[in-house]
Amino acid sequence: MDFEPTESMQMLRDAARQFAEKRLKPGAQEWDEKEAIPDAVYKEAAELGFFGLSVPEQFGGLGVDAPAYAVAMEELARGSAALQVCVTVHNSLVAAAIAKHGTDEQKNKYLPKMAAGDWVGAYSLSEPGSGTDAGSLSTAAVDQGDHWLVNGTKSWVTNGGFASVYLVFVSTNKDAGSRGITCLLVDKATPGFSVGKKEKKMGLRASDTRELIFQNAKIPKSALLGQVGGGFKIAMSQLDSGRIGIAAQAVGIAQAALEEAVAYAKERKQFGKKLSEFQLTQAKLADMATNIDAARLLVWRAAALMGRGDKCTKEASMAKSFASRIANKACYDAVQIHGGNGFVREFPVERFFRDVRVTEIYEGTTEIQALIVAREVLG
Ligand code: CAA
Repeated sequence: MDFEPTESMQMLRDAARQFAEKRLKPGAQEWDEKEAIPDAVYKEAAELGFFGLSVPEQFGGLGVDAPAYAVAMEELARGSAALQVCVTVHNSLVAAAIAKHGTDEQKNKYLPKMAAGDWVGAYSLSEPGSGTDAGSLSTAAVDQGDHWLVNGTKSWVTNGGFASVYLVFVSTNKDAGSRGITCLLVDKATPGFSVGKKEKKMGLRASDTRELIFQNAKIPKSALLGQVGGGFKIAMSQLDSGRIGIAAQAVGIAQAALEEAVAYAKERKQFGKKLSEFQLTQAKLADMATNIDAARLLVWRAAALMGRGDKCTKEASMAKSFASRIANKACYDAVQIHGGNGFVREFPVERFFRDVRVTEIYEGTTEIQALIVAREVLG
């Protein structure tokens, strides 16, 4: 398997890196304080094509393959993990699902607007009572002939406040368990559908995370994505690619933490020497660098399999689990190297430490990734 970036991957990486350096990195701290990213930044990301990465070219997107996507996601996360999570959910969980499972009518309706960034996508699986046990969700859709009548509440929906299209998983047959879950494409203006409270989060504070409320919401039959009862498989298979995006996010945050730690260690003097001259500091930096490279290779391996059309459930879970754990450790060590300065908001490692925490939680906890890997290992 070839892990060298191709020329087109390098071009995309360079574009993402430049955008991250010039536009994301300088603003990320302020956006964290204000708990919002300016509209102009989303617009620039859209103009650069980042909202169309997973949209096929025929619908106006860039239609990049999984390895190129992973490389771009790492770079964006290096600049702003909050912007990156918006982009990766939109692409890997929503646009890619519509491209794969949508009817021609659905693709024509959503994909061009999503590629342009005019319509942002949100993915809604979790509920107050079902997070890890996603198959037990209780938001119910009742068949009323020409529409579905939907009632229930969804939780922790990334992009929830400003999305235009929501990929929502509902139960259409309680007795059938995960085979009774159906996927609906819900437009923002649907009667009976509303966006609930904005979550006050520990990290990724500039990313918009919401509750969604369905009170006798009338969803047209044309909103069905895939088959009735086929929603859980759509949810799970999209999470295979989503998890590559989150693993790449973890690598990007860890890389940013390493860069800050190196710069600080070369600058800061104690006991008459730079921190970088102390072997205990060097050992931390060496571990961070080694783990980041190992995680990046796991991400690329999973992405390469996905790009070839091969099954990559195990490899995506391995990448997500490993990358998120080493990234949490890297951010912990970056704070440690900064000492007191790592505990205050003037230095970005404080934010990285908060932002990286959720990479072990969302799109499947570390524990669930272990379960998925173990199932495959045990056969
Ligand atoms: N691809 C395709 N199909 C899959 C699949 C995959 N990766 N994984 C499972 N399936 C299929 C199975 O083949 C099975 O099909 P059959 O009924 O035909 O046999 C069906 O789905 C049920 O599978 P399981 O028996 O494995 O289901 P389970 O109830 O044991 O649950 C689980 C499996 C791994 C625990 C799953 O519930 C899971 O991944 N939970 C974590 C949920 C999660 O990641 N949530 C993330 C929320 S989204 C988010 O965070 C986005 C955001 O905004 C950032």
